[in-house]
Amino acid sequence: MDFKRNILVTGGAGFIGSHVVRLLVTRYPDYRVVNLDKLTYAGNLMNLKDVEQMPNYVFVKGDICDFERVSELMNRYAIDGVIHLAAESHVDRSIRDPFTFARTNVMGTLSLLQAARNYWESLPEGYEGKRFHQISTDEVYGSLEISHSEGIASPFTTNASSEHHQAYGERFFREGDNYTPHSPYSAAKASADHFVRSFHDTYGLPVVVTNCSNNYGPYQFPEKLIPLFINNIQHRKPLPVYGRGENVRDWLYVEDHARAIDLVFHKGRTGDTYNIGGFNEWKNIDIVRLLISTVDRLLGRNPDEDMDLITFVKDRAGHDARYAIDSTKLQRELGWEPSLQFEDGIEKTVCWYLEHQDWMDQITSGAYEKYYEEMYGNR
Ligand code: NAD
Ligand code: DAU
Repeated sequence: MDFKRNILVTGGAGFIGSHVVRLLVTRYPDYRVVNLDKLTYAGNLMNLKDVEQMPNYVFVKGDICDFERVSELMNRYAIDGVIHLAAESHVDRSIRDPFTFARTNVMGTLSLLQAARNYWESLPEGYEGKRFHQISTDEVYGSLEISHSEGIASPFTTNASSEHHQAYGERFFREGDNYTPHSPYSAAKASADHFVRSFHDTYGLPVVVTNCSNNYGPYQFPEKLIPLFINNIQHRKPLPVYGRGENVRDWLYVEDHARAIDLVFHKGRTGDTYNIGGFNEWKNIDIVRLLISTVDRLLGRNPDEDMDLITFVKDRAGHDARYAIDSTKLQRELGWEPSLQFEDGIEKTVCWYLEHQDWMDQITSGAYEKYYEEMYGNR
């Protein structure tokens, strides 16, 4: 079958990647979506069980750092668009093992850029109709000051705005702000973004970059705050809050991120950067309390008893104080809006984890790592 477009999604078995793959294969039956994923500890093919049999979906187990392999895939599948999500993504792991982060996030990105460039330059039409979309993070901008410890009414409103709707400082990350990463994770992502822009400026590679705030929702690996704490609350295990829980993050429902990626991939201006976020700042400790009350309400338990699970532990080294992203450009130029109020998104997310205990059990038991062989044999 001839496909209208052939898109290479990297890291599609991860949290955000699986939502992007699902959206693309279902929304665009005339596109072929090739998911290239190494299946590290964070890659989980069970995240894609509902779409794995779709005729326009192909899974390839492989490493983005393997330049020969990536080059061969570009040719074999006549790739005309790359949406690059594959990365080592957890800040705490980057503090323990920065080399792995530099290898995957920097060298892996360079390998993809070079393979895309070689392949597209070899075609008669060159870069026409091609796109390399780099999925980046707000963490590359560094850390903002918390100047209002109690928060003030946010100057921005969106569909995601809740009663909470607060800003903890005057400044927001804007496109064009200097990059000042602090963790090995964000330093590696920043370096990758610089390579992406250098390929645009030097070779004319048609790139676009998006920088998104913290995502939450189904299929997030339970090392990250929200799924880890939902699981711990459910099983009445301690909740390790770093420092005093005063750090501020800006949260977006993962499907809203996937929709923004779809929009920017198709309609974003080549060479541009778009920030993605819902103006939804929360202190960690307030999220933890919201999670306890939501989980306990849904389980018919008394939340007062579980507040004692909160355990303040040693702070993360170099812990960024506040992230807050200004996504006005994306909203004005491309008409994107977040769809969910945070409290509704959290309710939906908690329900999903409670109803998918099997998904969580397969991770905690390690069974999810065997699913590739069951599905694809020794390929
Ligand atoms: P994740 O850790 O859940 O998934 C990463 C995926 O990449 C996994 O499937 C893993 O197997 C794969 N991968 C890792 N190394 C690979 C390699 N060498 N070759 C091929 N595949 C490899 O990550 P996530 O949270 O879904 O984040 C996806 C992307 O979005 C990352 O680039 C991250 O920096 C960015 N991002 C994440 C957030 C967030 O809140 N999670 C916010 C903004 C941006
Ligand atoms: O901002 C976007 C980034 O969001 C992405 O680029 C990263 O890939 C993603 O992991 C996320 O980074 P954070 O470090 O903000 O997410 P994490 O879930 O690890 O932590 C959220 C906040 O909660 C942070 O301030 C640290 C704190 N925390 C986290 C964990 C895991 C705790 O207090 N206790 C914990 O056990």
